[in-house]
Amino acid sequence: MTDLTELIAAFTARYGEPPANVVRAPGRVNLIGEHIDYNGLSVLPMAIQRRVTLLFRPRTDPIVRIANTQKEFSTRSFALSAEIEPYPEGDWGNYLKAAAQALAQQFGALSGFDAVMTSDIPVASGLSSSSALTVAAAMPLVEVNRLDTDRTMLAELLARAERYVGTEGGGMDQAVCLGASEGAALRVDFEPLRMSAAPIPNGIAIVVASSLVRAEKSGAARDMYNRRTRECREALEAVLGNVKKRKGIDSYPTLLAKFDAAELVELGDTVLGDDLRRRFRHVVSEAARVTRMETALAAGDVAEVGRILNESHASLRDDYAVSTSELDELTELAVAGGASGARLTGAGLGGCIVAACPPKGAEALIESLTEGFYQPRSATKDLDQHLFVARPSGGTSVEPL
Ligand code: GLA
Repeated sequence: MTDLTELIAAFTARYGEPPANVVRAPGRVNLIGEHIDYNGLSVLPMAIQRRVTLLFRPRTDPIVRIANTQKEFSTRSFALSAEIEPYPEGDWGNYLKAAAQALAQQFGALSGFDAVMTSDIPVASGLSSSSALTVAAAMPLVEVNRLDTDRTMLAELLARAERYVGTEGGGMDQAVCLGASEGAALRVDFEPLRMSAAPIPNGIAIVVASSLVRAEKSGAARDMYNRRTRECREALEAVLGNVKKRKGIDSYPTLLAKFDAAELVELGDTVLGDDLRRRFRHVVSEAARVTRMETALAAGDVAEVGRILNESHASLRDDYAVSTSELDELTELAVAGGASGARLTGAGLGGCIVAACPPKGAEALIESLTEGFYQPRSATKDLDQHLFVARPSGGTSVEPL
C-alpha cells in the first residue's frame, strides 16, 4: 500500500482520528566507499525513490504505537524511556525502539505518537530499509517534542542508536537518509560528521538489481559485518605500530592523510598476515576510489565511473570477501549487458548490485539482466521490486497533512 489516501484511511480507521503529519524516509544505494564508513573514511551514497512513508498523530503520554501495512510486520507498541527492553532478536520493532531509546537518553522524558506506516524499500536487500525505518520512527518524536536538534546531530545520534540491534554499523545510512538532496549523491565525512551534495550528471544512469538473496542485518550478515569491523581495527593497530613518525597518526583518516594508498598497501603487505593484509588493502584502495569517483561524476565520465565500480567489486570480492556467486554473476551480466561497470552495494553477502550506464542504455541493461538473471530463476513477478533505475532523491521530509 503506497497510496497516501489509502494510508490516511487506514490510519483513521485504526485510531478514530486522522493523522497530523507524514514522514517520508528514503532508502539508499551506495555508489562508492563500501565498508569504510566505520573506519571514519568518507563515502558517497545516494538516496533513492524507494522509501518508508509514516503517518502520525501526537499523543500526550509516553506511548508509541506503530502499525505496519506490510503483513509480515505486525503492530508494535511500547513506552518511551531511557532503558527500553528490546524485542527478541530480529524483530522489526527493535529499529523503532533503537530510535526511541536514543532520543529519550539524549532529551529526557518524551511524549509518544500513534502511527501507520508502509515501505516500498525491499527488505534485507542492502538498500538500507532498516535505517530508513529508524529515521522514520525518530522524526515524530522530534516533531511532537520540538526537540532542539538538526540533521547532522540526528544522523550521528541515530547511527549510534542502531547499535541497539547489535550491529557495529558506521554512519553512512542514517546520514544519507537525512541529508540527501534531489539530483545528487551525498559525500559523507566523519569525525565530525559532514555532508555535502555531489550532483549526478544527466549523462549517468544508476541501475539497481537484487541478487534475490536476503542479507539480514540482524542475522548471519551481522556476524560477518562485526568481524570485519574488528579486523579493520586490528589491522590499523598493527600498521600504526610500524609507522615511523607516528605523532598525530592514530586513525585511518590521519594515516591516509600522511601516506598515499600505494605506500600503505605495501606497508600492510609487510606487517600484516594474509586476511588482515587483504582487508587493509580493501579499505585503503576503496578510500582512494571515493576521491576518484567524485572527479569522474563531476566530469560526467561514465566510463571512468564504471571502471571504479568494477575495481571496487573486485576488491570487495577478493580482499574483503563479502560477495556471493549471485552478486558476482549479476555484476558480470550487467557489464555484458552494456553497463560501464557494476559492483555489490551495501554490506554484501546478498542484497543488490549497483551499475552505471548512459541513460539511453538503461532499458537495454534492464532487459539483459531480466533475461540473464531473473528469467532463469522464474523471478519476473514484481520485477520492478528487484530491478530498477535509481533516481537520486531528497532526504527525509516531514509535512503536515
Ligand atoms: C551497512 C552499514 C553501513 C556501511 C555498509 C557497508 O549498510 O549500515 O554503515 O558500513 O554496511 O559499506
